[in-house]
Amino acid sequence: MKRILVTLMAVAFLATSALVSVAADGPEKVLYETKKGNVTFNHKAHGESLGCEACHEGTPGKIDIDKAAAHGDSCKGCHKKNDGPTKCNACHTK
Ligand code: HEC
Ligand code: HEC
Ligand code: HEC
Repeated sequence: MKRILVTLMAVAFLATSALVSVAADGPEKVLYETKKGNVTFNHKAHGESLGCEACHEGTPGKIDIDKAAAHGDSCKGCHKKNDGPTKCNACHTK
């Protein structure tokens, strides 16, 4: 009986993880509209070159980006460390 239960749980786990991986690519691009000029975040390209773990812990989901996060570790901080764009207009294009 115990063994059957474990097998059923394993099947249920596989079914959920398959569902999650289909639905969880996230957006292709995200546009942040600001007074300083709009910022286009190419989410797909970042994911392909850096891997999801560079920004997401565990199962990827929503990350809130405000000004402090954008100018800190969520965007610019990584650019400083990894030769990404750090000039204002490299992100804020009109
Ligand atoms: C790595 C990309 C990046 C760089 C470099 C960057 N920013 Fe930003 N900035 C953003 C993002 C993304 C937001 C929007 C956050 C949000 O949606 O609240 C933002 C928000 C802002 C805002 C808020 C505008 C508003 O409408 O509330 C100002 C002002 C700003 N940035 C100025 C600057 C200045 C000045 C520089 C250069 C010293 C700079 N930024 C460099 C990505 C960047
Ligand atoms: C450079 C950082 C970064 C990388 C790498 C990255 N993401 Fe994201 N991801 C974000 C940010 C920032 C958001 C929130 C965008 C927004 O403002 O709505 C997000 C949002 C998401 C969301 C939630 C969408 C929503 O609004 O519910 C999913 C799902 C997601 N990413 C999956 C992935 C997957 C899968 C990968 C790897 C292939 C990946 N991400 C790679 C930064 C990243
Ligand atoms: C974990 C590291 C990392 C994070 C976090 C990250 N980036 Fe980047 N980003 C890079 C690197 C590295 C490059 C240079 C890649 C290249 O030029 O091929 C880059 C390039 C860019 C570029 C120029 C190329 C393009 O796609 O147009 C923009 C704009 C940009 N990032 C915006 C953002 C914004 C906005 C965020 C936050 C929402 C962000 N990045 C978060 C690493 C990161």
